[in-house]
Amino acid sequence: CGIVGYIGNQDVKEILVKGLERLEYRGYDSAGIAILNDRGLHVYKEEGRIAALREVIDLEEVANVGIGHTRCATHGKPSRRNAHPHQSNNGRFTVVHNGVIENYQEMKRQFLSQVSFASDTDTEVIAQMMAYLVEKGLGVPEAFRQLLLEIKGSYAIALLDHEDTETIYVGKNKSPLLIGQGTDFHVIASDAMAMLQLTNQFVELMDEEMVILRQHAKQITNLRGEIMQRRPFQVKLDASDMEKGLYPHYMLKEIDEQPLVIRKVISKYQDASGNIRIDSELRNSLKEADRVYIIACGTSYHAGLVGKQLLEKVADIPVESHIASEFLYNRPILSKHPFFIFISQSGETADSRGVLVAIKQLGYPALTITNVPGSTLSREADYTLLTHAGPEIAVASTKAYTAQIAVLALLAFDQAQAQGRAGQMNPFHELSMAANAMEIMINKKEMMEEVVWQYLNASRNCFFIGRGVDYYVALEGALKLKEISYIQAEGFAGGELKHGTIALVEEGTPAIALVTQSSVRANIRSNVQEILARGAHVCMISMEGMEEGTDQIVLPAVHELLTPLVSVIPLQLIAYYAAKYRGCDIDKPRNLAKSVTVE
Ligand code: G6P
Repeated sequence: CGIVGYIGNQDVKEILVKGLERLEYRGYDSAGIAILNDRGLHVYKEEGRIAALREVIDLEEVANVGIGHTRCATHGKPSRRNAHPHQSNNGRFTVVHNGVIENYQEMKRQFLSQVSFASDTDTEVIAQMMAYLVEKGLGVPEAFRQLLLEIKGSYAIALLDHEDTETIYVGKNKSPLLIGQGTDFHVIASDAMAMLQLTNQFVELMDEEMVILRQHAKQITNLRGEIMQRRPFQVKLDASDMEKGLYPHYMLKEIDEQPLVIRKVISKYQDASGNIRIDSELRNSLKEADRVYIIACGTSYHAGLVGKQLLEKVADIPVESHIASEFLYNRPILSKHPFFIFISQSGETADSRGVLVAIKQLGYPALTITNVPGSTLSREADYTLLTHAGPEIAVASTKAYTAQIAVLALLAFDQAQAQGRAGQMNPFHELSMAANAMEIMINKKEMMEEVVWQYLNASRNCFFIGRGVDYYVALEGALKLKEISYIQAEGFAGGELKHGTIALVEEGTPAIALVTQSSVRANIRSNVQEILARGAHVCMISMEGMEEGTDQIVLPAVHELLTPLVSVIPLQLIAYYAAKYRGCDIDKPRNLAKSVTVE
């Protein structure tokens, strides 16, 4: 979910709605705004996209203060009733909230047993509790502080008091939140992107802080009431990076940007003498590690699997890759000198952050590889490597994945050099060859469109198979296809098919097989024979030098450690066209959010 707020001298409606549109990637099952003027408070909310919210807003109602929310349901199904803002029954307090109040049931039982609730959300408890505390005689700022002390869980909160048109109350814990400032206004936003059209000056909030926000002033305090001084920083994003221009979808734009992104990574990480530019403290810290633990979710996890192979093969460091949400509960026995790498496009994913907080408590070193400077995971780790992919708006990740792999490759090479074991390979040269190969594949879109017609036209499922690193890319190909086209897709290790999954293969079952690794080339081709014999309809994607005459797609040859950068391109495009022909909402697939800030 995402929240916005504005207090200043302009009409607030369009500012809030535009802001929410820019946050729509965080959730889009319902949205709402509350605006406050001399005539009172006006709440507009609607199930569905921001476009639906626009329809119900009264354009005549002008106000200079307001808050807004775009929702990705956690507690309570998507509906108008559960959409934010939520209000106290006495009508005095209105709130928007991103996060999860873990103890809302206890709070209801302990303090609010007499109150009837209008929604199924955990959020409503905030508004009702404010009314309860104020009725008990507390002033609003103190009631807000007491409320935040009571709440357990994650929150970015903006709250309006109807009796005061000059203040927004803001609270933050674990969920991202920034305060933006201009000469005669303040804004709040879950992501700076939402308010970049108004300002690029933002102030960061730390966990368990609250803010009393006015047009010309803000007071940040911790929950003990101590005033915190904080200097603003400049967000260096260009608002035009967030436009999709002539592209029909952000996803297609972002797929196309990938060669450029790899070249950008090269330019950012190559110093004047051609060496890898990586902080020497990071280098030394990693050098001392006896094992690396990579922690990530979703597509970033898949990049982490490729990263494992890079670090092991190039730098000879043992690596384990873990799904963040499993790590804490299924904790492996750690080595003596572990080093943690967090991979996260957004730098905000709550599951990954949960692990970071836990391992920092144990005092272990951590690096975050992220696309968002200043993000929570970046701030809280000891080191950050940026992926420089530019804003990724489509929910299905593409350019962030390839950028993460490029950065992991450079990290692995840097480490190999530090240990005096680097071979002949020049990583910058090899990456730039890979960027060229990516470009060649991007220019062959009609080929992937054809594959979709031939193989996925009417199918309800699809298998992706590969061995070695191709297996990791197969996992990513399957994830892309399922998340945006809703075709049931799974990635399998070629050799594992015969141990069960092959039972699913019948006449016409589509499968996509990757062949980019010379060491397993023969084995994967024999796996393909096994499923062909059972009627599967197999699309072969091989790399030059390993192709056979009947292969549908042949990728330009690149260094065999970097093949994922190239082999993933046709898989991304196949997913894109499959979704397109099914009429799916490509940039905003159902039930998903780009940045998941709840565990
Ligand atoms: C969400 C998105 C995925 C993404 C994952 C991890 O589930 O829908 O596309 O891969 O989060 O996000 P992160 O920002 O941590 O890379």
